[in-house]
Amino acid sequence: MTIRVCLAGATGWAGSSLARAIAQADDIVLVAAVSRSHAGHKLGEVLSEPGLTCPVYATAQEAFIQPCDIFFDYTKPTVAKTNSLAALEAGAHVIIGTSGLTELDYAELSAAADRAGLAVLAVGNFAITAVLLMKFAEIAARYIPSWEIIDYAHDDKRDAPSGTARELASRLSKISASSLTVALEDTQGMKEARGVRLNGSQVHSIRLPGYTISAEIIFGMPDQKLSIRHDSGSSALPYVDGALLAIRKVNALKGLHRGLDSILDLS
Ligand SMILES: NC(=O)c1ccc[n+]([C@@H]2O[C@H](COP(=O)([O-])OP(=O)(O)OC[C@H]3O[C@@H](n4cnc5c(N)ncnc54)[C@H](OP(=O)(O)O)[C@@H]3O)[C@@H](O)[C@H]2O)c1
Repeated sequence: MTIRVCLAGATGWAGSSLARAIAQADDIVLVAAVSRSHAGHKLGEVLSEPGLTCPVYATAQEAFIQPCDIFFDYTKPTVAKTNSLAALEAGAHVIIGTSGLTELDYAELSAAADRAGLAVLAVGNFAITAVLLMKFAEIAARYIPSWEIIDYAHDDKRDAPSGTARELASRLSKISASSLTVALEDTQGMKEARGVRLNGSQVHSIRLPGYTISAEIIFGMPDQKLSIRHDSGSSALPYVDGALLAIRKVNALKGLHRGLDSILDLS
């Protein structure tokens, strides 16, 4: 059976790479795309990919005129939640690749997915190497009580912390909170220098020219340290395989799930 997908952000850096891969897939078809600046065109004209014949709409709400099984969001955190809620109302499972949604956003999406009897799969990083970073970090957090997360990105990335850092903090919170020897309120000088406390982890976001996207978690114990780090290159290719897998597997889920390993067997 062919899986019908509506892709918001199909003309962007990550979305266009995914759209081109879908054009080559036998079991997935793009039925609608969303991009404000290319609305009214066929996606294939915009991406010079004749296999993509679906129309481009300015908003996700307009795009749902085309029935779809899955709505995939690769846009901006300012619209991703609204798009996803509208998709659930339209009867589609949702995959969120967009970073920057808050824990409150996810709580709202979780409730909406439960009401609709559909799935929301939010993946901060579709790259298999990033999925492994999270898995290895979860194992380490069972044995080492103190850690801090650093996320590195290009200078023009507006959202912080990154989706990967948020997902990592959320997952580690299910194991424990990172222990602090000096409580944050007892910091002498500037508390901000200690980063943000997110779901029990200290998170530091670096935004500088010269960086692409990296995430690092440092575990510390007396006289020993463990660093686990993931670095993406400059193309969107690392995210494509994971995103295709999510499209193929999301209908086996119900409710909110975070992370690609919701559909991978990494045990
Ligand atoms: N989970 C992962 O593995 C992963 C991987 C890569 C990127 N990301 C995340 O995915 C998101 C997109 O990244 P990107 O680098 O592809 O961004 P980008 O190149 O700026 O593309 C954004 C896309 O969204 C569309 N868009 C933006 N605002 C919109 C709105 N209000 N309504 C409708 N469409 C809108 C843009 O088209 P118009 O401007 O024409 O509307 C464009 O197609 C970011 O949050 C990024 O962090 C996640």
